Amino acid sequence: MSYRIPLSSPDITEAEIAAVTAVLRTNTLSLGRKLDEFEQVFASFHNMPYAVAVSSGTAALHLALLALNIGTGDEVIVPSFTFIAVANAVRYVGATPVFADIDADTLNLDARSVSAAITPRTKAVIVVHTFGVPADMDALLSVTRHHHLAVIEDACEAIGAAYNEQLVGTFADISTFAFYPNKQMTTGEGGMLLTRDAGIADRLRALRNQGRYATDDWLQHSELGYNYRLSELACALGVEQVRRLPSMLAARDEVAAAYDRLLCGMPNVQRPPLSLPNSRVSWFVYVIRLDATCTSADRDQLMASLKRQGIASGRYFAPIHLQPAYADLPGAPTARLDVTEMVAQRTLALPFFNKLSPEQAAEVTNAIAGALGYSA
Ligand SMILES: Cc1ncc(COP(=O)(O)O)c(C=O)c1O
Repeated sequence: MSYRIPLSSPDITEAEIAAVTAVLRTNTLSLGRKLDEFEQVFASFHNMPYAVAVSSGTAALHLALLALNIGTGDEVIVPSFTFIAVANAVRYVGATPVFADIDADTLNLDARSVSAAITPRTKAVIVVHTFGVPADMDALLSVTRHHHLAVIEDACEAIGAAYNEQLVGTFADISTFAFYPNKQMTTGEGGMLLTRDAGIADRLRALRNQGRYATDDWLQHSELGYNYRLSELACALGVEQVRRLPSMLAARDEVAAAYDRLLCGMPNVQRPPLSLPNSRVSWFVYVIRLDATCTSADRDQLMASLKRQGIASGRYFAPIHLQPAYADLPGAPTARLDVTEMVAQRTLALPFFNKLSPEQAAEVTNAIAGALGYSA
């Protein structure tokens, strides 16, 4: 169904259209100069030596796990309150996702729960910066260093966010980004990995390109690989979006601030923090939480009421360990994740995109006020 006010909307200007059109006038639609340029601008935005572009954030997670040699018999600790690709990627490599609980304020992995989930088989932790809020890297890295675990930072929802003034995606052995159209920047579909390790970067480039090493010719494949390449069209779009990223993030800050002002008189509605100590939020989605007096049925009724008025909203996130696709994974459906389950019943993502006007934001919050019985 199409909504009067959609949940998300990409921000595409004439500059992007011209850049993509220019690629279409060339003879190189894959593995060309735009790929190099996109990787370079992305790496330099993060002040990192190596960026490797791939076809999606999911592909990035898959390759990150392969590059860290994680496989059958290994366990990887992940949040359940996140997008399913995080745990799925662990299963793609034959390893087992082990779910840890989240902090009730940041909605990111709780270091104490991560600690409690560690076993002799644990090889890595995937730290997700959920909804663009940086995870508590000091606490999490202290646990992973103590236990000699690899860290993958999943910054798919958090490009431009910073922790202790350091951009997310620059803390871990490997980090991942995603560019689906609902993200802060888009390439239509797409993803990226960052690393400081030249060997890992080479391996990632080979794995995304059917296992071809830099010295292999087109029909020589040194190891089992994948087609996770990103087209020149997508890379051209990505270059322009990285250029505009600071202004796009600033526009999102304003939309979040507008929602914050409009919702502050509604006591049952918990607003996401506009700022956190030592952190800069990069707004991916704007997710409200109904307070403890509300049930999941109240949240679903609110969602249905918004829908009747042509306003989209989303249940971000349904916990992964309770998904039908995880019913057969030993330990998943019975995992004790109290905060995850409590939060997931009451969260709702509101329409959120760069060009959401103050009038549209007011329309959304008036609809919420009406549905919850406040006078608008
Ligand atoms: C935290 C997180 N990880 C991974 C992904 C997967 O990215 P993609 O949809 O590009 O495969 C997403 C996508 O929404 C995400 O939110």
